Amino acid sequence: MAPKKKYKPTTRLVHGPEHSAKWDFSHHVTPPLSSSTTYRLDSARRGARGFTEFGGPVSDFGETPVYIYDRLDEPTRSILEGELADVEGGECCATFASGMAAISGILSSILVPGDAMVAHPTLYGCTHSLFTNWYPSMGIEVERTNLNDLTALADAVTEKTRVLYFESPVNPTLELVDIEAVAEFCSEINAKRPPERRLLTVIDNTFATPFGQRPLEHGADIVVHSLTKNLGGFGTELGGAVICPKEFIGRLLLYRKDFGAILNAKGAWAILVYGLPTLALRIKRQQYTAGKVARWLTEQAAVESVTYPGLEDFPQYDLAQKQLRDFDGDFAPGNMIYFALDSAQVDPEKFVNYIARYAYSLTLAVSLGHTKTLIEMPASMTHSVYGEEAGRHVRLSIGLESPGDIMSDMADALEAVS
Ligand SMILES: Cc1ncc(COP(=O)(O)O)c(C=O)c1O
Repeated sequence: MAPKKKYKPTTRLVHGPEHSAKWDFSHHVTPPLSSSTTYRLDSARRGARGFTEFGGPVSDFGETPVYIYDRLDEPTRSILEGELADVEGGECCATFASGMAAISGILSSILVPGDAMVAHPTLYGCTHSLFTNWYPSMGIEVERTNLNDLTALADAVTEKTRVLYFESPVNPTLELVDIEAVAEFCSEINAKRPPERRLLTVIDNTFATPFGQRPLEHGADIVVHSLTKNLGGFGTELGGAVICPKEFIGRLLLYRKDFGAILNAKGAWAILVYGLPTLALRIKRQQYTAGKVARWLTEQAAVESVTYPGLEDFPQYDLAQKQLRDFDGDFAPGNMIYFALDSAQVDPEKFVNYIARYAYSLTLAVSLGHTKTLIEMPASMTHSVYGEEAGRHVRLSIGLESPGDIMSDMADALEAVS
């Protein structure tokens, strides 16, 4: 069989590993859905091996790993982890029960009381909550600084700082962080630090997915994902993932084993069988529609501003062109749009309520990266923890509907509430 690396990521995501020692039977076209909480052990020695080998590297080749208990390791999840590490270009991956479990898992397995972290000001609401409501009381300081301002960043980083944390594109504003600039900043700091105290960049790549951006290629150290969104793609599974260098995987798996937030095998199977193989197809179609919808929004009198990385007036258009590239090297501005209504002309809440009641092609719901177009108001919903006024901003996650239908439903809503 030809080596898998010869093929493009789009093809690799459809076919998965060309061989896997991770399950004991090998003639399935679709990976089997394993559903066993515990594993038969041929001998006490095998049981002991399972525990001593746990946390070590697991590959598709060589010997089948010794599975002992689902919470430690499990074949379907393990194959998904191999695929995610491969497509992000990383060494290892650990999946989790949710994106938040992945984010708290990697940070809590790196940071100890007395350490500090610098995070970009705007983040997904629950990540912001983790950093404000939990870490400080656990002895981990979290400083908030614009990571695109390297002078401010230099002031914020102290000897205690171990992690720079950000999303790019940022949820919900779609602001970008220059990953290469931040990675270069870290390299300068790290030239003066011992390797075990080096400053690490952790990026949440949920919005772009590896289809649209591979942060490790730009110098980031660790990538986190909510698999619930674009990677899962169908809105049926909650999950998260961390892609990291080998040196972090043992402690991360130990953390996952003991804190217990594993991705269930059925969820892993659905993401592996439906989510990943359709990733490129879905996002290409969604961003084609997003481009049309974003341009249409700019033409509406009641719309004050439209933020979409594919629009030429996007404030960081050059950076978007550099960072957001798909597997073929084409520009990948994504499927998310953030826009503001002119509240003198339209009450944003009335607009959204009208959509909730009458629109067929848009659904008022949080989350994103679904087959269905989802609309929400971040200030009062996903980002309400920031405690800002409800505001004029609306977030759109474009689905797989016909673009004309989405525009027509929004046009009806604008007309009805103007
Ligand atoms: C950017 C981002 N990161 C992380 C998460 C958390 O993911 P989950 O809901 O799977 O825990 C979300 C959820 O909306 C998100 O938008």
